[in-house]
Formats: sequence, C-alpha cells, structure tokens
Amino acid sequence: MIPRLKPYLGKEEILALFKKRENAVKRFEIEFASQFNTEYAVAFPYGRSALWAFFKSLDLDPFEVVQPAYTCSVVAHATVLSGNIPVFVDINLTDYNMDLDLMAKAITPYTRVIIPTHLFGYPMDINKVKEIVQKAEDKYGHKIWIIQDCAHSFDAKYKGDSVINSGDGAIFGLGISKQITSIFGGMFTTNDEAIAKNLRDFRDSYFLVPSWKKSLKRYLYLLAVYPAFQSFIYGLVYWLQEKTPFLNRLTRDYHLDEKIHFPPDHLDQMTAIEALVGLEQLKKYPAVYSKRIEIANEYFSNIISSSKFILPPEVGGATYSHFVIRTENRDQLLALFASKGIQLGQLIEYSMPHHPAYKIYVQETAFPNSYLCSNSLINLPIYPNLKNAQINRIISLTNTIFQSDEN
Ligand SMILES: Cc1ncc(COP(=O)(O)O)c(C=O)c1O
Repeated sequence: MIPRLKPYLGKEEILALFKKRENAVKRFEIEFASQFNTEYAVAFPYGRSALWAFFKSLDLDPFEVVQPAYTCSVVAHATVLSGNIPVFVDINLTDYNMDLDLMAKAITPYTRVIIPTHLFGYPMDINKVKEIVQKAEDKYGHKIWIIQDCAHSFDAKYKGDSVINSGDGAIFGLGISKQITSIFGGMFTTNDEAIAKNLRDFRDSYFLVPSWKKSLKRYLYLLAVYPAFQSFIYGLVYWLQEKTPFLNRLTRDYHLDEKIHFPPDHLDQMTAIEALVGLEQLKKYPAVYSKRIEIANEYFSNIISSSKFILPPEVGGATYSHFVIRTENRDQLLALFASKGIQLGQLIEYSMPHHPAYKIYVQETAFPNSYLCSNSLINLPIYPNLKNAQINRIISLTNTIFQSDEN
C-alpha cells in the first residue's frame, strides 16, 4: 500500500545514535538557524510546547491570541493551557489561510499575539499582516507579537522572501509527519536577541532534563517507524490502524482531538538523540523541498480537474506539505483509494470554533469555510521517497475516479 505520508529516513538517522551527544541540542539549534537564515533557534519537545513557552515567557495578564479557525488544535490548546484566550478567524478558500479582512476585525485592545499560519505550506501575505498589526499597535499603544506557525511551511517564500523572518518569531513542529523530523520535537526561531534569551531562560528553568529512558524510547520509536512506512509492510500497519485500537492507543497521548490536552512529556527538554536525528534531517531539507515541488508540479500537470474535486491552488513559494483536494465525497474517496492500495490523508477533520471544548470562546461569528474544510479536505501522498511509478499510479487512479464521477 502507498502510505499517506512517509518520513525521509535513511541509515544516517539510524546511525545518529552512535554520534557524539555532547551539546547535540545546542548544535541542532545553531544548524537549524543557519539552514533557515535566521539568527536564533530554541529547541523544544514539541512545536506546541514552543508556543506555550512563548506565551508564558511574556508574563502578561490573560490576553487574546488571534489564530485561524482551521488549523491543528494544538495551537488553541497552547493558548488556553498558558492561561490565554483564543480568538478564531475564518479562513479563505483560495489558499486555506486566515482571511485578512476578518483577521483585522478580530483584533481588540486585549490582543497581544497573532498567529499567521502558512497552512499546507501556502505562504500568507505577511506584508499585509504586518501592516494590519502596525495599525492596531498604533491604535492600542502596545506591542502585538506576530508569531508565525511554520509547522507546514518551513522555508515557504512570499514574493521571494522567506516567511520565517517576517514576524517576531516562528514555531515549527518536527514530528514524524513533518517535512523534516527530529522524531518528535519543535523549534522556535527569531531574529530578536531579547526574545531568544527570554525564551531560552524560561525553557531552561521550567523544562526538565529528559531521562535516558526517554531517549531510548524515542530511538526505539524511530526504529519502529523506519520499516513501518515501507510500502510492502504498510498494508499491515494500515490494517492495524483501521481495524484495531492498537496503534491509536500508542499515539493517543500525542494527539487527543476532542480535549484541551498536551502530552504528559510536554515539559521535557528535547533529547540528544532527537537533536542528532534532526541534524541529519537538516542536511536533507533542500532535497525534500525540491522533490515535493517536483511532485506537486507532476500532479498539477497531469491530474485533470473536475467540478466536483477542487485541486489545491498553485502558488509560487509554497512548500506543499500537503497536496489537498476539496470534495463533497470525502469518505467514499478515502475508501475507494484505499481499496486500490493508496492511502489518502485527512489532516484536520475539525473546525476549532465548532470544537465542543472551544464553544465557550466563540461569539456570534460564523466560520463557514473552516467548517466546510473540516468536512471536505483530503490529501494525496506527496513525499520525496515516492517512486515515479507510484506517482503515475496515483495520477492515473485520481483521473479515473474524478472523470467517472463527473459523468
Ligand atoms: C499547523 C500546525 N501547527 C503546529 C503544530 C504543532 O506541532 P507539534 O505536533 O510538534 O506540537 C502542528 C502539528 O501537527 C501543525 O500541523
């Protein structure tokens, strides 16, 4: 079976265990900053922990955090668990990012942070975001931090400029499903020395040094992941995931969509083994990036669009962390592709304002686009180790299904 995602791992990551561990996290931070042309990088156990720590490090009274209605739930969890209030903004359907007019309207005297999220790797118009924030700062007379969510975008470019360096800071997730991974892990980057120092001091006093047992567990997890995503084994993995509670039980602590929740180890520091794997993955980033663009271009050139299946927007500078298709027939499509040996992804199946735990944060506003996407997006496999024959199989099946549904 062709998996919906596959980390780009090789023997380098497996052998990372035997590399020098001294200062591994620090070395990973330095290399990460250098790879993405930013001044400072501060490592965390998860991207969500980085965001949570940034909110805590501001040491302000409860404040409002403007964020997309349609994004990974952990952004809102970090907001609430740090004692603050999420303010959701509906997305547009052109690139699935926050609608900027609605974003401007969502800012109030209590807003202290805005989270521009470059969902699926689509760069937001960050210049416009900065303009809106500047106006609000002038109006309210205080700083509003722009913290970008680059978990999907990494080095996405808006009009040729990396989005990473446009705000006050950026967060990255480095879990196994991301473009590059450190097994688990997250990063905060910034060009502001004071923010970096404040955050690092906060992390070092608040986050625990992980035990050797945790490092070993992380490594064993990596060893299990490596074969699990090979096509010839993945059929079994898929079966375990779909037909038994076994795999879901293993990953339950990491992501509970229905609850405001963080994993139990969210206040541990990154382990050395994760940093060593991350260092290997950084070297592969340029290849990962260009291969994704190449596959996206293959899809754009060869998939025949249909009125019932809306292809993703083609945007220069996007990183295509996901190749999303919008359809009313999501469940049938997932089942049909699976029956032909191709697993489609279904990344965000919820809309934050419609999430039972978040209803209390929502006023009168409607979020039609967020709701629509929560019910209608799927994504085609797009990762560097996808073979040409597999890409062709995906294209050919997609065209057959789309065209037969159209007639
Ligand atoms: C859009 C987005 N933001 C933030 C995160 C947070 O990353 P982590 O899982 O490392 O906390 C994710 C993770 O899936 C994500 O998809």
